Amino acid sequence: MDLAILDGTVQPASTATISILDEGLLRGDGVFEVARLYAGVPYALEEHLERMARSAENLRLPLDVAQVRADIAALLAAAGPVDMALRLFVTRGGRRVGLLEPIPERPATIALATVAFAPSRVMDAVKSLSYGANMLTRRLAQEQGADDALLLTPHGRVLEGPTAAFFAVLGGELVTPPLSDHILDSITRRKVFAVSDAREQVLTRDDLPHLDEAFLVSTLQNAHPVHAIDGTALPAAPGPRAREVGAAVGELIERELAA
Ligand SMILES: Cc1ncc(COP(=O)(O)O)c(C=O)c1O
Repeated sequence: MDLAILDGTVQPASTATISILDEGLLRGDGVFEVARLYAGVPYALEEHLERMARSAENLRLPLDVAQVRADIAALLAAAGPVDMALRLFVTRGGRRVGLLEPIPERPATIALATVAFAPSRVMDAVKSLSYGANMLTRRLAQEQGADDALLLTPHGRVLEGPTAAFFAVLGGELVTPPLSDHILDSITRRKVFAVSDAREQVLTRDDLPHLDEAFLVSTLQNAHPVHAIDGTALPAAPGPRAREVGAAVGELIERELAA
């Protein structure tokens, strides 16, 4: 499925083009979202659109949510009942894009390597197109033989993955770093809170060797188990809490899609 919608016109993704003068390209100046389609139905679309509107407002980027909504309806009507990712973005040049992408294949469990990262305060609550740093952290982790990065502040506070929120079981408690540490307000993270007793807790580098379990969550992965961090194996992957959370989020998704 090679479908996109650009400024309201459905077309093949491979031939849809935007100007090289667009500051979305030149400076990564723009906002984006990735939602998941289940048999052609977008999950948590309102939450994605709300976050996109907030991102645009914070970035001082004009965005007409009604137009984005209309784009989605047109693209989904053309696509049919597909299981894919729906990427939406709006650039500083004013281009509005919706793009269908395959769900990436991933290994059943993953190894993480820590990478130092300082979130840019001014970009709090902006899911911007400037993801070069996040993508670099993944490559740096892969150079160390891991599958993905675990971002830590220069002072050693655990943050998130480059494209996912981080959960861990420490001393029997399901915990995740606080939003006040300038991580993304992940929609899947909110779903985990809705179905479990997870709570926010600051985690540091020193906690990592003591974790019972860890997993990443995002729109594209309900609970992706982590089997090692910086070469140290975790006791279980998937552990019981990862299984439980993965199943509970899956059921929540089914219930919300059916409602
Ligand atoms: C930095 C970052 N954290 C967390 C997430 C997970 O967010 P969500 O659950 O809304 O997909 C993403 C998703 O792209 C992300 O880029």
